[in-house]
Amino acid sequence: MPANTILIVDDTPNNIKLLFDVLDSAGFDISVVKSGETALEKLPYINPDLILLDIMMPGIDGFETCRRIKSDINMADIPIIFMTALTDTENKVCGLKSGAVDYITKPIQVEEVLARVNIHLHLRNIQTKLQQEVQERQQAELKLQENITSMQQMQIQLIQNEKMSALGNLVAGVAHEMNNPLGFIAASLKQAKPNFTDISDHLKLYQETFPHPGKEILEHAEEIDIKYSLEDFPKMLDAMVMACDRLKNISTSLRTFSRADKDYKVPFNIHEGIDSTILILKHRLKASEYRPAIEVITEYGNLPQINCFPGQLNQVFMNILANAIDALDEANTGKSYEEIKANPNKIIIKTSMENNHAKISIRDNGKGMTAEIQQKIFDHLFTTKGVGKGTGLGLAIARQIIEETHAGKLSCVSELGQGTEFIIDIPQ
Ligand SMILES: Nc1ncnc2c1ncn2[C@@H]1O[C@H](COP(=O)(O)OP(=O)(O)OP(=O)(O)O)[C@@H](O)[C@H]1O
Ligand SMILES: [Mg+2]
Repeated sequence: MPANTILIVDDTPNNIKLLFDVLDSAGFDISVVKSGETALEKLPYINPDLILLDIMMPGIDGFETCRRIKSDINMADIPIIFMTALTDTENKVCGLKSGAVDYITKPIQVEEVLARVNIHLHLRNIQTKLQQEVQERQQAELKLQENITSMQQMQIQLIQNEKMSALGNLVAGVAHEMNNPLGFIAASLKQAKPNFTDISDHLKLYQETFPHPGKEILEHAEEIDIKYSLEDFPKMLDAMVMACDRLKNISTSLRTFSRADKDYKVPFNIHEGIDSTILILKHRLKASEYRPAIEVITEYGNLPQINCFPGQLNQVFMNILANAIDALDEANTGKSYEEIKANPNKIIIKTSMENNHAKISIRDNGKGMTAEIQQKIFDHLFTTKGVGKGTGLGLAIARQIIEETHAGKLSCVSELGQGTEFIIDIPQ
């Protein structure tokens, strides 16, 4: 262990010599200065472990020197023992008040000096060690906190991924199961139309060949309104073909939505992603006994394919749209069906291309939020929704996906009672 350094501040040569001899032979490193001013000047370089300070000196006295040392944050910790005449009680009190830890009396007693110096050095060493320990502990705590935060984030991502992949699997399964019967219906419908035309032609031929088929047949024809049926049936078939096409689109959308991401980005049609997400949320958008359907208005710009992780982007659309529906439903509470109809619930989705960035704005005219809430919405686990309704992860995940995975920006503008807009900005 290196020897402790002691600074002697005194202008009396006899005292200096005495102190020097005692402390030197006890193995300390010693520096000497002869005035308060020099002490203040040299302290940063000497950096002593303890100061022996005389009171009566030319220039600033010991008390003032002590006060100045104590008011400097870098030196305030150095213990100061001042030296005073035996009888001088007032000076002793004054010295202790100005920040000294102890005093020794003149004429100087060698043993006393050594004993007091050793005690205070010992105390100072313990204090320094404690401070170091506290600092180390604080650092360890900080590190621990960082680890906990990053673990929480990982956990949240895992939960969300699990939720999404469960939903994705379900949706993909449904789409798959729909496909076989759908294919069968489509093929049959394709065949049904020419078949019906054949039958209808054949019937006409009968009517032409046998213009007087008899009472029973005429009566039955009237009863079943055969003329109308013959006209209407092809229209019914057309409607069925259209419905079938629509189902096929839905099935394609479901598969788009449930696309499993690869571990690299792929070109993706964002509009298809948004449309498929709207489809998945259809059941929440449609009219209920309490309100008309939520209008979803899409104003799509001219977007190229965007390099991204489609499954994750769909997850973002899903989280933001689900929040918009929640905000609209919350704004509806206490309002009548008619009131809502007069000022309908809307979600407006706009896309555009700006400086090689795709910009997607999703705006609702729901309940909006206060500036205070808005500050926290991207925090993990922040929710204003009841237990079991919201976990407070949706937007935290969305921001992570947009900003960390896609190097984009997710921002929010909202006004209480007016509505909310989320803006996604991702590089092409
Ligand atoms: N469109 C919006 N309008 C008003 N408030 C919103 C809107 N979107 C989000 N918020 C507020 O932000 C909070 C956090 O949203 P977030 O999606 O992160 O969590 P959540 O919806 O509460 O729960 P979940 O984890 O199920 O999504 C919401 O509880 C709500 O208060
Ligand atoms: Mg949410």
